[in-house]
Amino acid sequence: MCGIVGYVGNKKVVPILINGLKKLEYRGYDSAGVAIHTGESLKVVKCKGRLSALEKKLNKESMDSVMGIGHTRWATHGEPNDINSHPHLSVSGSIAVVHNGIIENYMKIREFLKGQGYKFLSDTDTEVIAHLVEYHFRGNLAEAVMETIKELEGSYALGVINNKNPEAFIAARKDSPLIVGIGKEENFIASDIPALLEYTRDIYILEDQEIAEIKIDSIKIYDIYGDSVEKDIFHVDWDVAAAEKSGYEHFMMKEMCEEPKVLKDTIGPRIFDSNVVLDSIKIDKEYLEGIEKIFIVACGTACHAGMVGKYVIEKLARIPVEVDLASEFRYRDPMISDKNLVIIISQSGETIDTLFALREAKKKGARILSIVNVVGSSIARESDDVIYTWAGPEIAVASTKAYNTQLSVLYLIALDFANKKAAIGKNVYEKTIKSLQEVPDALDKVLASRDDIQKFSSQHYNANSIFFIGRGLDYALSMEGSLKLKEISYIHSEAYAGGELKHGTIALIEKGTLVVCPMTQDMLHEKMVSNIKEVKARGAVVMAITQEKNTDAEKVADMTITIPNIDPLVAPIVAVTPMQLFAYYVAVLKGCDVDKPRNLAKSVTVE
Ligand code: AGP
Repeated sequence: MCGIVGYVGNKKVVPILINGLKKLEYRGYDSAGVAIHTGESLKVVKCKGRLSALEKKLNKESMDSVMGIGHTRWATHGEPNDINSHPHLSVSGSIAVVHNGIIENYMKIREFLKGQGYKFLSDTDTEVIAHLVEYHFRGNLAEAVMETIKELEGSYALGVINNKNPEAFIAARKDSPLIVGIGKEENFIASDIPALLEYTRDIYILEDQEIAEIKIDSIKIYDIYGDSVEKDIFHVDWDVAAAEKSGYEHFMMKEMCEEPKVLKDTIGPRIFDSNVVLDSIKIDKEYLEGIEKIFIVACGTACHAGMVGKYVIEKLARIPVEVDLASEFRYRDPMISDKNLVIIISQSGETIDTLFALREAKKKGARILSIVNVVGSSIARESDDVIYTWAGPEIAVASTKAYNTQLSVLYLIALDFANKKAAIGKNVYEKTIKSLQEVPDALDKVLASRDDIQKFSSQHYNANSIFFIGRGLDYALSMEGSLKLKEISYIHSEAYAGGELKHGTIALIEKGTLVVCPMTQDMLHEKMVSNIKEVKARGAVVMAITQEKNTDAEKVADMTITIPNIDPLVAPIVAVTPMQLFAYYVAVLKGCDVDKPRNLAKSVTVE
């Protein structure tokens, strides 16, 4: 996520902005900038790279000011470069804006403003906000921001300053966090508490569609209609480390709790009037008619996402799909040609095995479509088409929210291809889109009842081997559940297709063996019930993960974690989170370093 800091007071603003942004570096970023009010006009200094690069630029400038806004950018729309960095200026230079979030309808606003004669310099969604505030400005900045946010769809945390008003700046938010710091003869805004702890522990937490007008000696908060809002002061008693995780004990838990929002961010801008619109890729009907097979190539968790993608693309688009581990694919002289589409999945976009597999496929003539979380990463740059997951920075080594958003993008691809090929009827197409849009709310419910999973974990964190079994989509899910557990709790685990148990592995099941069974697929439900009975008969303890409607599961399993009833086809995006939570609680109970597990790196850039 991006980082925002704003200040107005008696002190030099630039050191406060830089210091605050440094405290937000953990959020991940690829460029940074500040905008100050010099007394007469606005001045913007920004650049690609780290804050140290920005400081070098700032040292060459005169930056005397007591009011300004600063930003660290995690790119979503537009490559990381100087022009796409924030703050963005309006066309006359009278308004400067910093933004965290995704404006889903920015293209429509951009076209409207272009029609009004506005010129755009960047590829970002954010730039439309600066011009729109200027378009609505009639002398009162707060009112101009109110009118602007009424037109914005998507998520935003904003800092806005205006050249005609050296005493006040404006903040506003929807879905992306923003707080107001209450000082003595000085006031602040920030994306997160760590940026302000050095100056104040008293804050207002802005709620969705609230606007704050911040001056040196006053803070006024309004709703979107201009009515005043009274707020309680929240006193922060966290230490700095806790504050970086927004109060969560670990980044992993913070990132799991972000899943509903980042799924909305990833899915929302790609569905218009019940249609999937993937405008970042240039794959049309005739291309799809001409390909013989799709390969999905990735490593680790990303490869497990690809296993789900295989089922979904074959089911909806009726195109054969083969899933390969990148480290195997690149050395087996794969039978690839220009008749193949290769989908590369990578959170970091830098995994060396995956990057080399991409190059191998490209060398053989395949078209490359990549699903990446880091904008401008090596894999993104070397692909023919890229669809970004908008999961924000994933700090914990164990991938959670990135996996869920990778799945959502694979579903969007399957739906887009199916629609272009007319492989499914309109009703199935629209029904599946609607089901996909129900996922974030379903995940909210799963996360709200995570204590049940913690309780079950407390009974089993001393296990020395845990099995995951599932069928169909739930088998792909089992692979991911097993990896999550292994990589953060160091407990041995295996994932098996439910139907495969009787061909050998069931010999390992004995009294007390823990078996986790995701069973979300209606058509395979009875088969899974039989598998549970098989392992129970040999003494296993079973945790089932199933939809609320499957009340029979409680009769056979020792523990049943339910997810809200949802289309079985999209259930994996929801059912994986109980397994992520289970792995997390077991690892915490074992005293493991959850965010930085032994022997592992967040991005494996060496072979
Ligand atoms: C995920 O929990 C693991 N940390 C690991 O398997 C990871 O998914 C794999 O290394 C691929 O990384 P990438 O998605 O950045 O390419």
